[in-house]
Amino acid sequence: MNVKIDGRRKINSNVIVPPDKSISHRSIMIGSLANGVTEIENFLFSDDCLATINCCKNLGTDIEIRNDKIIVRGNGFALSAPKQILDCQNSGTTTRLLLGILSTQEFESILTGDSSLKKRPMKRVTVPLSQMGAEFEFLEKEDFLPIKVKGSKKLKPIEYTLPIPSAQVKSALIFASLKAEGKSVIKESPKSRDHTELMLKHAGANIKSWEKDGVYTVEILPSQISSIKIKIPSDISSAAFFIVLALICEGSSVVIENCILNPTRTGIIDVLKQMGAEIKIEDVENRNGELVGKIVARSSNLRGVKVEKNDIPRIIDEIPILAVAAAFAEGKTTIDHASELRVKESDRIKTTVEMLKSFGAECYELENGLEIIGSREKLKSAVVNSYKDHRIAMAASIMACAVEGESTILDADCVSISFPNFYDILFSLTKKI
Ligand code: S3P
Repeated sequence: MNVKIDGRRKINSNVIVPPDKSISHRSIMIGSLANGVTEIENFLFSDDCLATINCCKNLGTDIEIRNDKIIVRGNGFALSAPKQILDCQNSGTTTRLLLGILSTQEFESILTGDSSLKKRPMKRVTVPLSQMGAEFEFLEKEDFLPIKVKGSKKLKPIEYTLPIPSAQVKSALIFASLKAEGKSVIKESPKSRDHTELMLKHAGANIKSWEKDGVYTVEILPSQISSIKIKIPSDISSAAFFIVLALICEGSSVVIENCILNPTRTGIIDVLKQMGAEIKIEDVENRNGELVGKIVARSSNLRGVKVEKNDIPRIIDEIPILAVAAAFAEGKTTIDHASELRVKESDRIKTTVEMLKSFGAECYELENGLEIIGSREKLKSAVVNSYKDHRIAMAASIMACAVEGESTILDADCVSISFPNFYDILFSLTKKI
């Protein structure tokens, strides 16, 4: 599906942003491993999260979708051998977290995914999980899906420092460590998103975590998980598109309530504020360890910044939309130390640069990042490739709203990966200036 957007639009509205994708995945997985009935409210029914539901059902978990709630009947760690190949579709989180969970199971499973997921590296999880005693076989190509996994009931605990901070790798190791024969210690620097740790602590697992001298440590002891009730807040990674829309479109403002404000996720707010964005955070509350609150943003005069290396993990999924904001800012924005962008749903260094260039922006690819020279006057409508990457499609759509003329976003249906009603919201809440 291609989407046409008639540009120079504005927004003045409350936006109901979809539930958080990272927390949605974890709620199903942790519910599957818990003893008893987990109740999930405000789950994200997007393609990625549905892939997690299907895989967990395939592993024997009883998951019922009842009205707008999900009921997960967990059986402790007693999963059953899947009758089919586990299809993780486009979802890296589903794959990597499941590899950790399946390391605790004695049966064999095969995981696969779509053509994009089959290009994403998996040794980053299989190497440390093998050290714990799980067995992996790459069925087509070393490092990539499809992978056969055979776990063990006698996993060795692990002491491991992540070479690159990654919530997916950390979470896989935490899941495996819950069933290892002793204490595991995982370290990373800087800290990546910690939703797994927070949700498991809430479910009674024996996990401690702390930060000292810039190093984040998680200590895990073998644990049972109790069932919990979860109400999932809105996803700041999805909110970011409408925040930037308000910032770059004249006479605009947005209010996003009930949004996740976990400090490992709010890099986008901090960097946009450094750029001069008028953003306010209000009504913050702590919901079982997770901070949740309201974001208010309005049209602002932005200036370029150099993004700090330590902020990269806190902003990794928001870089395409940050780059759009940078194209409307005055001066140069530099985003470096972001080699991880090359192995996301697309090579997001290349695809972000290509997308911005289609609109006439001055933008350069660096080895591990990108540089954007703000050039609001040069920007014009365009026909843009989304590379079937949801975040590129949405970033391009926001850019299309701010420029003059009609733009076309190719293969825009990929927004269903994380934000199925993105275009309904965009077209109903924005209007031509
Ligand atoms: C995610 C972790 C991040 C992020 C991804 C979601 C998660 O990936 O980019 O979209 O839910 O754990 P890495 O852990 O590989 O950095």
